[in-house]
Amino acid sequence: MTEANAVLDRHFWDGKKILLTGHTGFKGAWMSMLLGSLGARIAGVSLEADKPSLFEQAGLAKRIEAHYAADLRDLKQIQAIVDAERPEIVIHLAAQSLVRFAYQFPVATFDTNVMGTVNLFEALREQRSLQAILTTTTDKVYYNQELGRQFVESDRLGGHDPYSASKAATEAVIAAYRASYQQSNGVISLVARAGNIVGGGDWAQDRLIPDAVRAAFSQTPLSVRSPSSTRPWQFVLDALVGYLMLIERCIRQKQLFADPNEAAYNFGPLPDQPSAAVSEVCNWIAEIWPERFSWNVVVADSPMKESKLLQLDSRKAVGVLGWRPRMSSREAVAESISWYKAFHAGNDPFELCQQQIEHRLAPVRNPI
Ligand SMILES: NC(=O)c1ccc[n+]([C@@H]2O[C@H](COP(=O)([O-])OP(=O)(O)OC[C@H]3O[C@@H](n4cnc5c(N)ncnc54)[C@H](O)[C@@H]3O)[C@@H](O)[C@H]2O)c1
Repeated sequence: MTEANAVLDRHFWDGKKILLTGHTGFKGAWMSMLLGSLGARIAGVSLEADKPSLFEQAGLAKRIEAHYAADLRDLKQIQAIVDAERPEIVIHLAAQSLVRFAYQFPVATFDTNVMGTVNLFEALREQRSLQAILTTTTDKVYYNQELGRQFVESDRLGGHDPYSASKAATEAVIAAYRASYQQSNGVISLVARAGNIVGGGDWAQDRLIPDAVRAAFSQTPLSVRSPSSTRPWQFVLDALVGYLMLIERCIRQKQLFADPNEAAYNFGPLPDQPSAAVSEVCNWIAEIWPERFSWNVVVADSPMKESKLLQLDSRKAVGVLGWRPRMSSREAVAESISWYKAFHAGNDPFELCQQQIEHRLAPVRNPI
């Protein structure tokens, strides 16, 4: 066995002042716990948590240094928080993140995703403590002509639907602030584009795993609209560890990217762990949870179109950062379902997350 394939340097993160937006959301709650495990000092900025939420179930308001319930659409409020916190690193996860909600409420979606990002970046413009900002967009940010190939970071951006377009517009905002201000101020601005993230504690509406879990809890069959839609399903900690590896490397190497394509990284399954159709994911869950979960297909007459095929090429993150997802899509779904089963059996949500975090942070020993 060779020595470890350690992923993150705890010394780098220990004591770092992080401003985390979207900390009451699914990925934000996991990110709070992951950063907490690394010793970082976290100030979170988000709307109040939805009910139910992992943030509340894991008692995170008490576990982070500062919890601000604030709206990114309010520049004055955000400016006051930034001035009080003086962060070294900002991780911007907050967004209106749901595709179907965005179809119904495009104005609110563009407002939060685009103007919310403008406000955050504006509030940070003169902040001298700031070293780096990482913003998450999505695999849906690419202009998708359904050509059946994997997207690389330099591909054209654009979206057919309000959510995708709002995220592509977010990237235009990021590029403008990078070129106009951050580059000359020495602030690194990064973009992480991930696929469909799965993990325990996601309770959002209109996402496959939470919908499946609610169906399983109530022992009613899940009605599926688009069984053949294919997505890069990925375990939440694989993606979040990748984001932190990217920040750590770029700060250490003082990498100020002028080119937006260079500052963007895809984080998705590897070619030997390909994307999977919704029907496959449902069959995996039915295998793991046969006593509670079943599903059927409904014919939906909906004007809301979603991409049929989305695949990310993550070779840049693998080659440059040495990042690798530890779980295939199937393993990620199994790990998520095991979390929900344990939660349903009465286990403590925070402890369940901590176990998975410590496991993910542990070095891997490779056979020689
Ligand atoms: N979950 C996924 O599969 C996935 C995949 C790719 C990209 N993303 C992106 O990752 C990020 C986090 O996703 P998530 O799944 O945790 O989303 P989520 O919906 O669970 O959480 C969203 C967070 O943003 C906050 N927020 C929303 N509007 C706000 C506003 N106006 N002001 C302040 N805070 C606001 C919410 O309070 C919440 O904390 C988002 O940017 C999302 O678009 C998610």
